[in-house]
Amino acid sequence: MSLFRTKAIAHDIEADTGLKRSLNAFDLTMLGIGAIIGAGIFVLTGVAAATHAGPAIVLSYVLAGTACACAALSYAELAASVGGAGSAYGYGYAGLGELPAWIIGWMLVLEYTVSVAAVSAGWSGYFNSGLLEFFGSGLPDYLLHAPGDAAHPGGLVNLPAATIIALLGVLLATGAKSSAQFNSVMVAVKLTAIAIFIAVASFHVNPANWQPFVPPEEVVPGGVNGFSWDMSLLDYFKMLLGFHSQGEVRYGWSGIASGAATIFFAYLGFDAVSTAAEETRKPQRDLPIGILASLALCTILYIIVSGLLTGIVSYKALNVAHPVAFALEQVGAHTAAGLISIGAIAGLTTVMLVMFFGQSRVLFAISRDGLLPKFFATIHPKTRTPFGSIVLSGIVMLILGGFVPLGKLVEVANIGTLGAFVIVSFGVIVLRRSRPELKRPFRTPLFPLVPIVGALACFYLTLNLSVFTWAAFLVWLVAGQLIYFNYSRSHSELAQQN
Ligand code: ALA
Repeated sequence: MSLFRTKAIAHDIEADTGLKRSLNAFDLTMLGIGAIIGAGIFVLTGVAAATHAGPAIVLSYVLAGTACACAALSYAELAASVGGAGSAYGYGYAGLGELPAWIIGWMLVLEYTVSVAAVSAGWSGYFNSGLLEFFGSGLPDYLLHAPGDAAHPGGLVNLPAATIIALLGVLLATGAKSSAQFNSVMVAVKLTAIAIFIAVASFHVNPANWQPFVPPEEVVPGGVNGFSWDMSLLDYFKMLLGFHSQGEVRYGWSGIASGAATIFFAYLGFDAVSTAAEETRKPQRDLPIGILASLALCTILYIIVSGLLTGIVSYKALNVAHPVAFALEQVGAHTAAGLISIGAIAGLTTVMLVMFFGQSRVLFAISRDGLLPKFFATIHPKTRTPFGSIVLSGIVMLILGGFVPLGKLVEVANIGTLGAFVIVSFGVIVLRRSRPELKRPFRTPLFPLVPIVGALACFYLTLNLSVFTWAAFLVWLVAGQLIYFNYSRSHSELAQQN
């Protein structure tokens, strides 16, 4: 059936595709860490500990990390054997068919667009309070917040957010290698900041703060019939079936799971490594290294940082915009807190850079296949970067970052990614059956257990996202179907060939 037509897998994934091959395993690992450590650990951990899991946020990190590790192993197998700039989208096209590939690509576009915009809003906060206010006076409120932001009424535009996105767009348009070098410097800065936090915080732990490790379950009563847009889909179903009282459930096991679904955002980004396949010198060897090394390092750091964070102050105090610096201020370590702010700014910058990079490469790949207009596949003759994708996606992100309050949309980025991970995990299983002869330089261990656990764990996490997030996701998926059936299906390069 035409919806499931598959693309041939390129025999040589190191062939010339027009993009310049300049990255190695180290660059890719840096790219991964650059994309991973950001708003998740610097901003969301505090909120998630305070409102979801308490000190058991550490377990949320273990749960989300396990789901990610399984998905990452599947990613690594597909990245090494199928390759291509489109990341999971490309693997889907070769293994599962055009429609599933389009759906994955459409989810990745959601992940990257919303992540860059959401992180830019966090960047703006740290930039203003960590730098501008430190050196004089910060910006007025109306230039710091998007209109309609309930927490900060009177906002006109989030100017720093829009500006940083524009600057990163220019950087990306000038070439992958220069962005990779800039990225490596910023990664070093944020890793130093995290090392400082770990060193200072270790001396201020009060074990009493870890008690109770798993706070007892609480219910925040919902509105009409107990319904709340903030309750998780799972809790909503449980409420309908009469299993628990009405409203949003916090703490307890439920809180660990919903905490994991929220801080999953902290892991998001390792998949962006695979979008650089066509700019990597030895993709078959270096992509698995880049994906797995960056994820492993970040997981260890997250578990240590979240454990220390809830050990130095009570989790109840952590519902602030800059929890990591805040916690150090609470124990009197002001210099360290200032340094952490600088690290956070660097961290958030690299996340945006790599996500933006990933976005332009996915759009490039989708458009090259004819599923989106050719404009997205335009390569600049001098810099050999996908100029059209960078400009257009940059404008959309800039508008979102500047004019839309994005607190809730972190979860939307998560659901897009989790959805793509579920399909990628199944993709590994399907491709092993349909293409057993394919050369696989990296094979997912414990097959088929790892992809199955990965798919189930990611699906379980989506059920712990809020009803609001699910509604937004469904709207996005329907929009994607409308585009596919009204444009992509007839313009597809494969359709022209057949
Ligand atoms: N993992 C990235 C972050 O935490 C998206 O900012």
